[in-house]
Amino acid sequence: MEAVLNSTTTYLPTPRHLSSTHSSPLPFSLSFRERRRKFSPKQASVLRVFASSQAAPASSAAVTIPSQMKAWVYGDYGGVDVLKFDTAVSVPPVKEDQVLIKVVAAALNPVDAKRRQGKFKATDSPLPTVPGYDVAGVVVKVGSQVKELKEGDEVYGDINEKALDGPKQFGSFAEYTAVEEKLLALKPKNLDFVQAAGLPLAIETAYEGLERTGFSAGKSILVLGGAGGVGSLVIQLAKQVFGASRVAATSSTAKLELLKSLGADLTIDYTKENFEDMAEKFDVVYDAVGQCDKAVKVVKEGGSVVALTGAVTPPGFRFVVTSNGEVLKKLNPYLESGKVKPVVDPKGPFPFSQVVEAFSYVETSRATGKIVIHPIP
Ligand SMILES: NC(=O)c1ccc[n+]([C@@H]2O[C@H](COP(=O)([O-])OP(=O)(O)OC[C@H]3O[C@@H](n4cnc5c(N)ncnc54)[C@H](OP(=O)(O)O)[C@@H]3O)[C@@H](O)[C@H]2O)c1
Repeated sequence: MEAVLNSTTTYLPTPRHLSSTHSSPLPFSLSFRERRRKFSPKQASVLRVFASSQAAPASSAAVTIPSQMKAWVYGDYGGVDVLKFDTAVSVPPVKEDQVLIKVVAAALNPVDAKRRQGKFKATDSPLPTVPGYDVAGVVVKVGSQVKELKEGDEVYGDINEKALDGPKQFGSFAEYTAVEEKLLALKPKNLDFVQAAGLPLAIETAYEGLERTGFSAGKSILVLGGAGGVGSLVIQLAKQVFGASRVAATSSTAKLELLKSLGADLTIDYTKENFEDMAEKFDVVYDAVGQCDKAVKVVKEGGSVVALTGAVTPPGFRFVVTSNGEVLKKLNPYLESGKVKPVVDPKGPFPFSQVVEAFSYVETSRATGKIVIHPIP
C-alpha cells in the first residue's frame, strides 16, 4: 500500500498542451452535436444544454481555447450504459466569478454514480449532464470578477458548491470545466494532478464533518469505512490536524495495514469483528458506510455520530458537504508537509476512455482511497 501513498505520477503542463488549432466565442446556448447519434443510438438525436446565464467578459486568453471538447455525457438517468463519450461538446461559458480549467485529472465520487442513477433528480440540474465533481488542472481563462487566480495557475477543487442542489451540467469528466474561483485552491506543490484530483470532495467532507462534531485535541474517534475516499482522510485529519488522542477505524482484512499507515491506533476487521460489540466508546463516530444504527451504540454519552449515508439514528446527524476552496487552502500546509497524504486507488488512474469502468468500480464500494481519471486528452 506504501506505493499507493507515494504515487509519483507526474504531469508537467506546458503551453503546448493547452493550445488548440481553432477558436470561437463561447456560446450562450450549448449544443451537443448530431454526431452524438453515433455514440448514443437509443437517445434523442440532439441534446441541448442552455447555460443559466450569459458568458461573462473574460480577460484575454494567453492560449487558444477551442469551442468544442471531448467529454463524457449522459442524457438519461440509469446504469453505466447511459454514459456516452462525445467528441463535440461545447466548452462551457465562463461567468464573471469563474475560471475555465483545462482538466488534467478528475476523480470519481459515489455521488457521481448516485446522481447518474437519478437519486437526486428532484434537485439536480437539467439533463444532459457531463458528470464529475473533483478536478485538478490549469486555469486557461478568468472571468472579469476573478480576483486571485490567473491563467497558468495549477488548481484543484470540487466544482459544485452544493453537492446535491443544482450541481453543474458541465462537470469535470471533460477537457474543460468552468468553476467559481471560491471553490478552488492552488494545487499543493508536492502533489501531482492525479493526487490532487482525488482530494477535494472527500477532504472537504472529512473536514466539515469533524468540524460539525466540534472535534478537538484529545478526543477519540471511530471511523467506519476507513479505507474509502472520505474515511482515509478522516483518519488523517483527526490525527494530524485536530489532534485526536485515539483513532479507530474499520475495513476488511486486506486494508488493515493501510489504516495503520494512515494513523489508526486500532484497526477493526469488519469481516471478523462487530465494532458495535466493543466495550470501548468514542467521543465521535464518523460513519462513511451507512451503519448509523450500530454506530450510536459505541459513542460516549454526549458524543457525536456523523452519518454520511444511509438511515440516520439519533443522536446521529447527516450533513451534505459544501465545497469551499478556503478549506483546501487551510489544509495546504498539512498536504505540502506530507502530514496528510492523498490515497489513490492502485487500480487507477483510469484513462479517459475508461470512465465507464471507473463508474462500475466506484459502485462496488470497494475502492481504496480515490478513483482518479487521467490522462484527459
Ligand atoms: N453527505 C455527504 O456530504 C457525503 C460526502 C461524501 C460522501 N458521502 C457518502 O459517504 C459514503 C462514503 O463515501 P466514500 O467516497 O468514502 O466512498 P468509497 O470511497 O466508495 O468507499 C469505499 C470503501 O468503503 C469501505 N467499506 C465498504 N463497506 C464497508 C463496511 N461494511 N465496513 C467498513 N468499510 C466498508 C470499503 O472497504 P472494504 O473494501 O474493506 O470493504 C472501501 O474501501 C458514500 O455513500 C458517499 O455517497 C456523503
